[in-house]
Amino acid sequence: MPDQYAVIGNPVAHSKSPLIHAAFARQTGQDLVYERLLAPKDAFVATANAFRARGGRGLNVTLPFKGEAFRYATVLSERARSAQAVNTLKFDGDVIFADNTDGAGLVNDLVRNLGCVIAGRRILLMGAGGAASGVIEPLLQQQPAQFALANRTPEKTQSLAQSFRGALEAVSYSALAGRQFDLVVNATSASLAGELPQLPPGVFARGALAYDMMYGRGETPFLAFARSEGAAQLADGLGMLVEQAAESFYIWRGLRPDSAPVLQQLRQMKDD
Ligand code: ATR
Repeated sequence: MPDQYAVIGNPVAHSKSPLIHAAFARQTGQDLVYERLLAPKDAFVATANAFRARGGRGLNVTLPFKGEAFRYATVLSERARSAQAVNTLKFDGDVIFADNTDGAGLVNDLVRNLGCVIAGRRILLMGAGGAASGVIEPLLQQQPAQFALANRTPEKTQSLAQSFRGALEAVSYSALAGRQFDLVVNATSASLAGELPQLPPGVFARGALAYDMMYGRGETPFLAFARSEGAAQLADGLGMLVEQAAESFYIWRGLRPDSAPVLQQLRQMKDD
């Protein structure tokens, strides 16, 4: 029987992960199946346990279970520990190894696919939920000159800035007036509701890249705003999705798939 993997979430029907991992498996000649696993909101642990009991080898974890998966793990990677959220589980006997590949996915998409240089540049990250906290450490490792973190609710940015010992600066959206950034990343869930964070005009420096971790049909409200503000480069989160999957695939199978053709395939489907 092929090794079994799945993405667990609620909702999960929309997830593109099965398609991505099937493409990676074909490309690398790996014998595996990858399904969608819908867990009731109050039954993450029971659903994950049942999957393990029937031989499941690993899970990707999506909303709203990334925090619960963190607590479910018996061994945490450094990345999972710093994010306090988990998107990848690997099962090996009694061991539940947990990692967070979201940040590496974002950085790989920025650096390799989009040719973005982060070192020495000014970054603005918007949002202070699980999506934001998962990408802070890998972004910091790229050694930006400035790292500002903005959120609608200021208490959350302050506590995140404290947990990263002052390596980032907690700011309110209104305090960004008059400042400029080379990379602006939207890690809020605002695009889901067709909204955008209350950014003042003029935050995009010359040559700036605007990155929305969300993706979907059409431009997100944040990317539309960035375009109207003259941002030089716009990117949605589809590349990050494929790159975080490639990193999970590597954890499970020890092989690095080529993400480029898979990203291209997904972009074509999106345009259809
Ligand atoms: P996730 O795990 O996707 O990060 P989350 O933990 O619910 O989800 O966090 C959502 C983030 O999007 C929060 O930072 C939230 O801001 P608040 O902390 O102030 O609630 C942010 N967010 C959601 N809608 C927003 C909007 N319309 N404008 C600005 N920020 C928004």
